[in-house]
Amino acid sequence: MAHHATITTALLVAFLFSFSFFLHADVAAAASTLSQGQSLGANDTLVSPGGSFALAFFTPAGGDPSRVYLGVMYAQATEQTVPWVANRDAPVSASSAYSAAVTASGDLRVLQGDSVVWSTNTSSTLGNATLTLSDSGNLQLTAGGEQPTVVIWQSFEHPTDTFLPGMRITLDRSNGGVRRTLFTSWRSSGDPATGDFTLGQDPLGSAQLYIWRQTTGGENATYWRSGQWANTNFVGVPWRSLYVYGFKLNGDPSQSNGVIYYTFNAYNTSDYRFVLNPNGTETCYMLLNTGEWETVWSQPTTRCQEYNTCGANAACSDDVSGDGQPVCSCLKGFEPRDPAEYGAGNWTQGCVRSVPLSCVSGGGGGGDGFAEFPGMKLPNFAEWGSTVGDADACKQSCLGNCSCGGYSYSTGTGCLTWGQELVDIYKFPDGEGYDLFVKVPSSILDTGSKTRRWIAVVIVVVVVLLAACGLLLWKCRSRIKEKLGIVGSRDKKRLPTLLPLREQRQDFSGPKQQSDHQEEAEGGKKCELPLFPLEMVAAATDDFSAANKLGEGGFGHVYKGTLPGGEEVAVKRLSRSSGQGLEEFKNEVILIAKLQHRNLVKLLGCCIQGEEKILVYEYMPNKSLDAFLFDPARRGLLDWKTRFHIIEGIARGLLYLHRDSRLRVVHRDLKASNILLDRDMNPKISDFGMARIFGGDQNQVNTDRVVGTLGYMSPEYAMEGLFSVRSDVYSFGILVLEIVSGQKNSSFHHMEGTINIVGHAWQLWSAGEGERLVDPAVRAAGGSATEVALRCVHMALLCVQDHACDRPDIAYVAMALGSDSSVLPRPKPPTFTLQCTSSDRDGLFEGRQADESYSACDLTVTMLQGR
Ligand SMILES: *[C@@H]1O[C@H](CO)[C@@H](O)[C@H](O)[C@H]1NC(C)=O
Ligand SMILES: *[C@@H]1O[C@H](CO)[C@@H](O)[C@H](O)[C@H]1NC(C)=O
Ligand SMILES: *[C@@H]1O[C@H](CO)[C@@H](O)[C@H](O)[C@H]1NC(C)=O
Ligand SMILES: *[C@@H]1O[C@H](CO)[C@@H](O)[C@H](O)[C@H]1NC(C)=O
Ligand SMILES: *[C@@H]1O[C@H](CO)[C@@H](O)[C@H](O)[C@H]1NC(C)=O
Ligand SMILES: *[C@@H]1O[C@H](CO)[C@@H](O)[C@H](O)[C@H]1NC(C)=O
Ligand SMILES: *[C@@H]1O[C@H](CO)[C@@H](O)[C@H](O)[C@H]1NC(C)=O
Ligand SMILES: *[C@@H]1O[C@H](CO)[C@@H](O)[C@H](O)[C@H]1NC(C)=O
Repeated sequence: MAHHATITTALLVAFLFSFSFFLHADVAAAASTLSQGQSLGANDTLVSPGGSFALAFFTPAGGDPSRVYLGVMYAQATEQTVPWVANRDAPVSASSAYSAAVTASGDLRVLQGDSVVWSTNTSSTLGNATLTLSDSGNLQLTAGGEQPTVVIWQSFEHPTDTFLPGMRITLDRSNGGVRRTLFTSWRSSGDPATGDFTLGQDPLGSAQLYIWRQTTGGENATYWRSGQWANTNFVGVPWRSLYVYGFKLNGDPSQSNGVIYYTFNAYNTSDYRFVLNPNGTETCYMLLNTGEWETVWSQPTTRCQEYNTCGANAACSDDVSGDGQPVCSCLKGFEPRDPAEYGAGNWTQGCVRSVPLSCVSGGGGGGDGFAEFPGMKLPNFAEWGSTVGDADACKQSCLGNCSCGGYSYSTGTGCLTWGQELVDIYKFPDGEGYDLFVKVPSSILDTGSKTRRWIAVVIVVVVVLLAACGLLLWKCRSRIKEKLGIVGSRDKKRLPTLLPLREQRQDFSGPKQQSDHQEEAEGGKKCELPLFPLEMVAAATDDFSAANKLGEGGFGHVYKGTLPGGEEVAVKRLSRSSGQGLEEFKNEVILIAKLQHRNLVKLLGCCIQGEEKILVYEYMPNKSLDAFLFDPARRGLLDWKTRFHIIEGIARGLLYLHRDSRLRVVHRDLKASNILLDRDMNPKISDFGMARIFGGDQNQVNTDRVVGTLGYMSPEYAMEGLFSVRSDVYSFGILVLEIVSGQKNSSFHHMEGTINIVGHAWQLWSAGEGERLVDPAVRAAGGSATEVALRCVHMALLCVQDHACDRPDIAYVAMALGSDSSVLPRPKPPTFTLQCTSSDRDGLFEGRQADESYSACDLTVTMLQGR
């Protein structure tokens, strides 16, 4: 091997590799493995089998062109995107020969001429070392000629700055050591060298993610903290639930010698990436069809989200109106440290107690009590009281312990307590976050509550006055309207499919969110959705032949098609009465195409020609859930693990639609036949944008459809045409009951004694015989399956409560599904009435959950309007 730059025939690719722009590789001609003795030259590329990733030498865009690195890149992205770099701190020089080789000793090496610049240092005696690039972006070095080969090294265990689907952020404390996965930022966007920021798990095992910053003095300062993981999201990160991307904590943090790790799985392994940027921000990007990246999630984004900006015992809130500087304030019962010593406005030292705690637990005048701070990022260094079962016990446990400085209790986190220093508290801007109770002397509380009582009295008076005024005004207005004959504006007709939530979200999240929406709308127009010519679609489906028909929904017929390239697709030919203009239709479709989630069916393109409006989806070989669930011959294929996986997947998809997607869509027609299953039995919700496309008058689209899915419709939707996210939750509850029992809701219609699956489930569950509801095919397997199944039934009964206001929101459902310890409230018996009195709303969920769960639940839900 005199020449390291030898290009092996397997690697011969007619491929022009520009250093600053990654061109699309000729996938068919490129190899995905490099065997022992082979080498990768300056102009060679290793491409993963599916063409998602490539391994090649590159010069960072905007960087020094003389420095060359070996890296893994996204093949589909328009801009150079490098999730992994081998020789980040040892670039080779562009001016003389360089290559990468798998050596006979079983190492991957980067060479400049003959000298080794970088090596995996994995010397293996097994022989036959092979380097393989997989479609997940993992570069693996295996050894051993016979199957199975041994993985001796992989890039997923030696990350640079990027967290990819399937990777793990591990804390391994087995065998007395501490081994962690750490991500380190690039120095700058053009320089992959080790930068200042490092991300990893808290070495102490709190399961929090941290970003540390290497300061100029060589010291390590905490730059950001995620907060604990609460089943769907980090408690310190508001708004977007990482759960919808399959983000998950595995392992038990309470074991001090185990392995715990985070992992996630996106829709497609190459769709999402989390990157620790050179400026210390951790950002999740999504790859659009156009090859561009879009930001999905980012932390920290304000000074207050950075670690402990205001010091101990002080809360930080973003100043949205002013210059963006953080606004610090001492917690109630605390005051700034001596301003003379530290300078006024210097918050690095935080605050100290103004009056010491009396530390006498319990009532009377002299004891201590708690000041409440709603909507907080909870402080660091919490102790988890996993044995404490409710809010009051949590409070008592803190009151009875002199060193306890505060507590918080919620269904997601359980009981958390803190010592005397409360570090890193952030006041979320929009009502998210958790309630923090800080221990203070009762004397302070009393004066507080007196003022509060006064404020309350004033507020009540003002509200009563305002209400009276409002009523008067409203009466006047409606009388004027009657006179003018105004029935409803055009806009109202077009928008009802948006959540009423959206309007609430705007005041919820302030002006920033609004501008997001604008960007989204504009970005939506930029996004190119493939337009299929009608001839092509017709040819693919054999002219919409009956033989190719897959099914029929309320919105039109669905056909199976085969594109010229051989790709199988599902083609939905929409019924003609969507009542939308072409441009509107196209915009809607483009927006919906941008909803990308593992548990939603992917929209590949559309076809608009004359009267024809056609949507092209990915094809799901396993068809829909009802084809399994209600088919006695195939039902047995769905074991409990698969069923729970399906329930979880639907919850994730729904949570994404309701809360985390840009559009916040109410599905309105969730049912077993709208849940499709892919090859691996992953559930995918279909027809999710239909309610938007068809505007408000679904009832007119196809009356049969409404009758056909009556069993899934919540009472308020079925009877009064009122819908909200809670109606979807109702349908979800029905679906869960069907999945658990394997019985169709409609099969109950003619049964003696029970009205429907809800009544049936309630009877069994309330009699303590819930396991009888579980499909016998599943019951046979026994074990913990039944326990989880019972929990699902319990959850489903909460979802199908008559009053929309009693039902939890999907975020709560997802959270409770992910946790087997949190105690579910008792559902109300189904009565099939529709009155929502205010007394019904009280006392189901506690604290913040209640607020959040009920936020969508005033009856301002949109009315369906016929034309
Ligand atoms: C790589 O390609 C460039 C441009 O085509 C060419 O100038 C260079 O000689 C090639 N290098 C090797 C090692 O083949
Ligand atoms: C994942 O992405 C790759 C590259 O874009 C594509 O070829 C593949 O078909 C996608 N897989 C799925 C399941 O969509
Ligand atoms: C491999 O070993 C060399 C020499 O000990 C060391 O300088 C280098 O950092 C090691 N490489 C890696 C990737 O650990
Ligand atoms: C590599 O594998 C082949 C069989 O696949 C075997 O015959 C050969 O001896 C192996 N080489 C080494 C060095 O182990
Ligand atoms: C800084 O923190 C990281 C992550 O915990 C750790 O690996 C590293 O050793 C620390 N460096 C110093 C200088 O303390
Ligand atoms: C940090 O870098 C990212 C990526 O370049 C950018 O989107 C973000 O705005 C930057 N954040 C700050 C605070 O500069
Ligand atoms: C704040 O106080 C600390 C501690 O005395 C000091 O080191 C720091 O320089 C001060 N910062 C400012 C901005 O005054
Ligand atoms: C009292 O609270 C402190 C701080 O939360 C904790 O470290 C300690 O274990 C608690 N003591 C008891 C007896 O619970």
